[in-house]
Amino acid sequence: MQHTFLMVKPDGVRRQLIGNIVRRFENRGFVLVGAKMMTISREQAERHYGQHKEKPFFGELVDFITSGPVFAMIWRGDNLIEVSRIMMGKTNPLEAAPGTIRGDFATYVGENVIHGSDSPESAERELENFFSTDELLAAGVLSSATDR
Ligand code: PPS
Repeated sequence: MQHTFLMVKPDGVRRQLIGNIVRRFENRGFVLVGAKMMTISREQAERHYGQHKEKPFFGELVDFITSGPVFAMIWRGDNLIEVSRIMMGKTNPLEAAPGTIRGDFATYVGENVIHGSDSPESAERELENFFSTDELLAAGVLSSATDR
C-alpha cells in the first residue's frame, strides 16, 4: 500500500477539471484520504521544484504554480505511484497519449494540469511540504506515537 501526492495545478483548477481528475483516480480504485485548495507561497514552490533550480524554465514554473489556487491531494492505493504516473501521461502533453490526463486536457508543457510524485521518496518529501503533521496523521500517512 502506498501514499502519494497529487496536485491539480492552477490551470486545471481554473478550467474546473478537479472533479474529472478525482473521478479518474477513484474509478481506478484509489482512495482520496486528504485534500485542500490552497495558494502556494513562492518559498514552498521553490522547495517543491528545488531539483530544477538550474533549469531555464525554473522562473516560469514558479510563477505558474503560484499564479492561483491548486488542489493538493493525498491518495492511497496499491502500486499507486507507478499507476498514477501512467494515468497522468508524459510530462510534455505533446507526447502524452490520448486517454491520459495530460493527453486529454493539455497541449503545453508549462501548463500541464497535474503534478504527481515520481517515487516513494519524492512522495514523502512533497507530502511534508504541502501538508501539516496533523493533516498527515488524519490521512493515515503518519501514525501517532501512541499507536506505535
Ligand atoms: S527534467 O528536465 O526532465 O528534469 O524536467 P521534467 O521532469 O520534464 O519537468 C520538471 C517540471 O518542470 C515542468 N516543465 C516546464 N515548465 C515550464 N516550461 C518548460 N519548458 C518546462 N519543462 C518542464 C514540468 O511540468 C515538471 O513539473 P511537474 O509538476 O513535475 O509536472
